[in-house]
Amino acid sequence: MRCMSSKLKNDSPTGTPWCYYPTESGFTVQSTGTNSFVLAAKTPNPYGTNISPLNVKYSSNGATLLLTIGNDDRYVPPVNIPKKPSTSTESLKFTSGTIGSSDIFSFKVTRASTGAALWDTSIGGMQFADKFIQIATYLPTKNIYGFGDHIHKKIKHNLDRYTTWPMFARDIGPDSGSALSTQNLYGVHPFYMCIESDGKAHGVFILNSNAQEVETGPGPHLLYRTIGGRIDMAFFPGPTPEEVINQYLQHIGFPFLPAYWALGYQLCRWGYGSLDAMKTVISRNQAAGIPLDVPYADIDYMNHYEDFTEGDNWSGFPAYTQQLHNQGLHLIVIFDPAVEVDYSSFQRGINADAMFIEWARDDQVPHNIQDQYPMAKNTKIMLGNVWPERNTAFPDFLDTQNNTNVWWAGEFAQFHKTLPFDGMWIDMNEPSNFDTGTYSSMEERLANAKLSCPISGPDSSLDVPPYPTQAVYQRSGEYLFSKTLCMLGKTARRSRNFYDTKNLYGWSEARATYQAIPQVTGKRSAVISRSTFPSSGRYGGHWLGDNTARWEDLQTSVIGVMEFNMFGIPYVGSDICGFNGKSNEELCLRWHQFGAFSPFSRDHNSEGMPDQDPAVWPSVANAARIALGFRYYYLPYLYSLHYNAARYGHTVIRPLFFEYPKDEETLEISEQFLWGSALMIAPALYQGQTTVHAYFPSDTWYSLQPETYGQKMFSGFNDVNAPLSSLTPVFVRGGFILPRQAANTTTTASRLNPFEVLITVKTNAASSGELYYDNGDDIIPNDNIEQHPRVHWQFSFTSSIVGGVFTGNCETCSTAVKPPTLDTIEILGYPSAPNFSGFKLDGSSVTLDMSKTSYDASTQRVMISS
Ligand code: NOJ
Repeated sequence: MRCMSSKLKNDSPTGTPWCYYPTESGFTVQSTGTNSFVLAAKTPNPYGTNISPLNVKYSSNGATLLLTIGNDDRYVPPVNIPKKPSTSTESLKFTSGTIGSSDIFSFKVTRASTGAALWDTSIGGMQFADKFIQIATYLPTKNIYGFGDHIHKKIKHNLDRYTTWPMFARDIGPDSGSALSTQNLYGVHPFYMCIESDGKAHGVFILNSNAQEVETGPGPHLLYRTIGGRIDMAFFPGPTPEEVINQYLQHIGFPFLPAYWALGYQLCRWGYGSLDAMKTVISRNQAAGIPLDVPYADIDYMNHYEDFTEGDNWSGFPAYTQQLHNQGLHLIVIFDPAVEVDYSSFQRGINADAMFIEWARDDQVPHNIQDQYPMAKNTKIMLGNVWPERNTAFPDFLDTQNNTNVWWAGEFAQFHKTLPFDGMWIDMNEPSNFDTGTYSSMEERLANAKLSCPISGPDSSLDVPPYPTQAVYQRSGEYLFSKTLCMLGKTARRSRNFYDTKNLYGWSEARATYQAIPQVTGKRSAVISRSTFPSSGRYGGHWLGDNTARWEDLQTSVIGVMEFNMFGIPYVGSDICGFNGKSNEELCLRWHQFGAFSPFSRDHNSEGMPDQDPAVWPSVANAARIALGFRYYYLPYLYSLHYNAARYGHTVIRPLFFEYPKDEETLEISEQFLWGSALMIAPALYQGQTTVHAYFPSDTWYSLQPETYGQKMFSGFNDVNAPLSSLTPVFVRGGFILPRQAANTTTTASRLNPFEVLITVKTNAASSGELYYDNGDDIIPNDNIEQHPRVHWQFSFTSSIVGGVFTGNCETCSTAVKPPTLDTIEILGYPSAPNFSGFKLDGSSVTLDMSKTSYDASTQRVMISS
């Protein structure tokens, strides 16, 4: 490693690193096989000994290029992803080479059609020791998006400076307040997308579950480091951004389809204190006419914070749940993974040979604590502290015999008989453990009642590895085990070190919870998980965690929702009004206006904070009614987008550049987004804001705001009104057909209303759209959505001077599903009064009831009703 003088570093405006790896560091080729190389270490690794020989292999999986660096004995996360071969009009090419005039191995991945080098490792610096692996590459452009879980102030990374983003699942709330916080948050997503100079997109994914980080910089380049496992990469050729995500999701698995009700508005808070407090809040919002589908109970409902129990102030909760069901509402309650070690759930786990994260050896067990618990006494279970008053154990959801997951499902099923909840909110699953201390001697250890992990001696190699990543260095006095369990812990039925699997904890809990649903509720549901990993979207959604009631947090929420759609977790949203801190009327109002457009739409508040449900302020209630009313009106469109995500692997929410990647302006837009291809939302996100300076890519756009309804928008930047008392700026793109149903105050009632379609005309183009409808809450056996009873319509419309032809093709029409009728067609952008007698429906002329048709020349709007 070479290091510069400190003066150089301090003078650098870009945060240039103090030390760097010379280009000529790395490996040489020992032998070459078919699509493979055996490398020999040439230069030293500063944090261990480079593994030599080292295998490199590449292969094609359809259009996806796979690359593995690392020998077969290296750890591979057991996520069992489908790795379906992808298709593309483009292909990628792998070529190996050497760096400059040296014999150091490097490789390139190029796009065959343009020759663009997507990866080029001739920047040097490759390392591969047991606990320090790194690879660096030049990038084709600075248009980089993704990597998570972090707060990003802009959707596009800033590569003009050097920035390191650790990826290590941790119980740390998003800090949007600081100018640049690169802290690692609850989940890990080593995936990014790049837009090349000609607007073509590609994606890169690295499957690895150890603590890791990525540094981006002005090369433009990136440097990826991990401290275990191997580098398993997949390169996706796009060439459109949506195709990149589609190829990524073919690889990692498609997202689950939420129950229809889970797309309704959700109301939550921590600190209800009692069932009566919860009832009061729910009732006042219902009385205020707020559309509401899902009341929540946070940990308050539990008895002493023990999972699968109800507290004293919550008697009557089952009857209340029944009452909610009778009104068409659904209940989600929270569960934490850590269970107290002295009550019946834990005992049943022990009896069922469920596994919990353990110490590696009995002499590491602090018996002075452990032996206080008869149920844990003769075990090596690593005890921590979370919400319960006494110590907790952490289920090992990676248990190779599955006993843990069977026990976990059984606990849900048993509890569900008492409290008939509908969805599961799984929290604290990084996993979070409060106050993890350190020890360097046994005496020190025994004196400490908290969980403590070794920081010296032979046992410390996993907890204090040679390079613990920036996840540790960014926070003084911290270790990998801070606020969690010791890395030396054993998991996967004692077969692995927790060091390798910690980032999979939330993923594995989500999988266990999702897989329990058929036996628990017997109906389709929704699981919301705080910690996520690639492919978590198969099992649940995500909320963006403990944000703060600040404008900055509202702004970064928009980016978070877009990013999690790129990560294959489309069912995502932020805590509306802000979790920590005291919210206020204007912020809460604006947050509802944005939150109504998040797939997961929930108001949530922290303990001790004043109420912030919409009914607290008449102005917020008004804005929430309008925003949620719009959401409920267009839910058939939103649900169809989720169907497309679940069946074909698509996003629900898209950044603008997804649809207009060749329009450079869109590459920078962080505060507007799309629902699918057709709806654009430009929320107000700043205090005192009255207009939004919104960007309209060159296309046909119609306003859906009541004041300017149907009006065409000019391309480029426009200042649009963003009233507090009306609908947030929403626009629909020409050439689409959107299904909708009149809104009611629950999705249960709304989905019974007759269907309508909104057709938007684009000059010289047909309009198209689709509608997916099913029973809404029936289980999709084996997630085989293709076999699932449904009605799936493909719509098209061609307008002409003689009228218009509307076609609805039922791609699959199951008789088991009885959709409401389609009663209303609205057309925007119809240039002149139509000849209604020329309208055709499915190829046949129809006689329209002229008393129910109209044409408004000023808005160019046609209405046809039956
Ligand atoms: C932390 C979660 O992030 C938050 O949403 C929840 O309210 C608290 N835990 C209490 O359960």
